[in-house]
Amino acid sequence: MCGIIGILGNAPAAPRLVEALKRLEYRGYDSAGVATLENGAIKRRRAAGKLANLERVLAEEPLAGVTGIGHTRWATHGAPTTGNAHPHATDKVAIVHNGIIENFRALREELKNAGRKFSSETDSEVIAHLITHYLDKGQSPEQAAIAAVRRLEGAFGIAVLFAGEEVVLIGARKGSPLAVGLGDGEMFLGSDAIAVSPFTTRVMFLDEGDIAVLSRTSVKVLDADGKQVERKVHIFAGGVAAVEKGNHRHFMQKEIYEQPETVGRTITRYVNAFEERIEMPDFGGVDLNAESAVIIGCGTAHYAGRVAEYWLEQIAGISVETDIASEFRYRKPAFGKSAFSVFVSQSGETADTLAALRYCKDNGLKTLAVVNVPESTIWREADARLPTLAGPEIGVASTKAFTAQLSALAALAIAVGRARGTLSSDDERRLVRTLMEAPRLIAEALGAEPEIEKIAQELSHARDVLYLGRGVHYPIALEGALKLKEISYIHAEGYAAGELKHGPIALIDEATPVVVVAPHDALFEKTLSNMQEVNARGGKLIVITDAAGAAAVSEIAQHIILAPACDPFVAPLVYSIPIQLLAYFTAVHKGTDVDQPRNLAKSVTVE
Ligand code: M6R
Repeated sequence: MCGIIGILGNAPAAPRLVEALKRLEYRGYDSAGVATLENGAIKRRRAAGKLANLERVLAEEPLAGVTGIGHTRWATHGAPTTGNAHPHATDKVAIVHNGIIENFRALREELKNAGRKFSSETDSEVIAHLITHYLDKGQSPEQAAIAAVRRLEGAFGIAVLFAGEEVVLIGARKGSPLAVGLGDGEMFLGSDAIAVSPFTTRVMFLDEGDIAVLSRTSVKVLDADGKQVERKVHIFAGGVAAVEKGNHRHFMQKEIYEQPETVGRTITRYVNAFEERIEMPDFGGVDLNAESAVIIGCGTAHYAGRVAEYWLEQIAGISVETDIASEFRYRKPAFGKSAFSVFVSQSGETADTLAALRYCKDNGLKTLAVVNVPESTIWREADARLPTLAGPEIGVASTKAFTAQLSALAALAIAVGRARGTLSSDDERRLVRTLMEAPRLIAEALGAEPEIEKIAQELSHARDVLYLGRGVHYPIALEGALKLKEISYIHAEGYAAGELKHGPIALIDEATPVVVVAPHDALFEKTLSNMQEVNARGGKLIVITDAAGAAAVSEIAQHIILAPACDPFVAPLVYSIPIQLLAYFTAVHKGTDVDQPRNLAKSVTVE
């Protein structure tokens, strides 16, 4: 899930490569590198760590040339060192790679036996040596690239630069996305449209198995069978402008504060406010009046799906199965007679979610994508799409994308309820009115920041934290725990409050704070009993609740985070805010890298 850029240009390549890599850091940021052709010779600069380190190296040792490739890495094989950073090169070829070459050991052995010397611990380096191997046999760059690509097993998006070939750049994809940017007398390769967006708005997405041979003025695309094919050119207007933090200290903070707007924007997309009805886009044959639905995603997107499971069951009476994409894809799940499938993803590029979507398609299910990045792979491959209008999310920890997913899924639940006849028009109007209150309630919830910041200071000293929630707030507890561990590196677990006594209660002691997501709703009394159990064992309770809930827990809670009173339907949207702020300020107190936490990447395009 690394970021790739290739430029066959007319202006100095190195600054442009870095410019593109800045937009790709969300795909990985543990090392970066660029290679250009200087008078026909391959020259490289690489650095471990953030892109800023590579910029420093380039400032000290600039690279000339107008043709080049660049890479930002999320390590799979080999530590995040300079030596393992891409591009990997021989004297004839430099490559950048996104994905995993599964047969790299066998290829490496074969190439070593043929006398080739390897200098990294990566799987990717075999690609450079394999292409060189075929060039040494007298093949042209195109022939050598095709021959090498045919021998690669696994997933890859690659860009290849050839020594002495100022007019050729080759890209290939299988399992990992690759886009071609068509400029004015220039051509570009990118791991997504965002990579090439600083240079052109005309983008062609390669299909599985495609190889693209670029010159400055033409693109030849060969499909998996070696047949020359045409691929559609899209106009991609998104992502041209670099996103700024504004007055905020971190992107995550900015994104948390954008939520009244992003939720409002997403809801408005699906609501006819005048008639108080949900209006959905064309569903491409997805029948909402089905017997059952499956909802798939990873991480935060999966938790959004878990919330939607409660909504769909309660509002639309439809049987719903939710799963993590990486499990679902290998389970060989069976489906009832009529079912539709929903795939939730901010990036639209998550490898496991995409594989799950393809599994459902192969098994005859209609697919519906709840996606934030337009024209991403999941967006394009689904039968129908429900865009989330969160705008670019830069912080690795997902915040505004999550509430935008909840907004779209809430609208979907109402639409399914109508399609299945479980909702009367009056019920629909009431739910729509309630949903439209969410932006205002979120803005109110943001008002708890000063109190949350104080609590976070204390929380930052914890080693373990438990999160509890019931019903629709159980996935919010899971999301709260995920947020905290991602950015503060504090161990946290989310549990269904009722499950506490079946094991996790053994963890309760004075040093383990317990965060409880507990609005004063129909299940509050049940959760209150669980809070009593924690209190009786000396546990420290941080309770996120409304005024009525606060009155009930004032004796036992160490801290109360006040949220606005709201209808249970929109409560998951509203209660997402305090758990995000709590994680954010805890990380700030700990001094971690909030926007780019260690070991993570924004978009996970490998299995
Ligand atoms: O782009 P996606 O929504 O498909 O990404 C799924 C997960 O990787 C993502 O939600 C991840 O869990 C976030 N870092 C959570 O904050």
